[in-house]
Amino acid sequence: MKTAINKLSVFTSGNTNNKPIIFVHGFPFDHIMWDAQIEELSKDYYCITYDIRGLGESPAGDGQFTMESFVDDLETIIDELKLNLPVLCGLSMGGYISLRAMEIMEERFSALILCDTKALADDNAGKIKRAEGIKSINESGVEHFVEQFVPNCFSDNFMMRNKPGYEEVLIRSKSSSPIGVKGCLLAMAGRTGTTAYLHNVSIPALIICGEEDKLTPLDVMKSMAKNINNSTFVVIAGAGHMAPIEASDIVSEKIKEFLKSTGA
Ligand code: MLT
Repeated sequence: MKTAINKLSVFTSGNTNNKPIIFVHGFPFDHIMWDAQIEELSKDYYCITYDIRGLGESPAGDGQFTMESFVDDLETIIDELKLNLPVLCGLSMGGYISLRAMEIMEERFSALILCDTKALADDNAGKIKRAEGIKSINESGVEHFVEQFVPNCFSDNFMMRNKPGYEEVLIRSKSSSPIGVKGCLLAMAGRTGTTAYLHNVSIPALIICGEEDKLTPLDVMKSMAKNINNSTFVVIAGAGHMAPIEASDIVSEKIKEFLKSTGA
């Protein structure tokens, strides 16, 4: 079911009496990236996903976003849907939002799933790359930016063996709002790191990393996981940054196993 909450497009499936899981997508993607997990998990869980403000179907407005404003949006969704202790699952930028949400309101969640993301803030080179991205959108358009950015998000193997799947994601991302994409780039460049909070995370956490992730590589994710006490680390063989799309069945299975182990 699709609903609008504070102008955001929010999608729910499954029985509302079941344990809620909120899925937060990465950049510059939309809620569709979680389709496979939602199809599987909505059999036993109440699944909620949404388009982050400025991406997918959610309007960009003035494009002035911060990680904190993204967390405000997440909190509004939890409040409006009256979700009781949802599991929070975020990929990459969705993971940055999830980690900031831990800092601000961990007590509102029962478990955390982080896919292909990091706690570290952008270093100087990373911030300069964001600025180059904004310049490239201003000069050559969002489609050009997406064409350069998105191939790095997938393993070479996936792009070769699943061309239609890869191209579908590419085409959807190309239709993103330039204001929204630039707003996300600024929000990511401006975000502070969350490493200092990791030791405080007390809810169970599952950390999933695609073995061939070029953007948030294995060593970076391993050291993040080490800092979270109650965490399980899973490597998805052969997958890149978009593990939930590239190895959808395995990722869904790992999430189910984890949720069962936590009693959720
Ligand atoms: C994402 O997948 O959300 C992005 O790769 C995050 C980033 O660019 O830091």
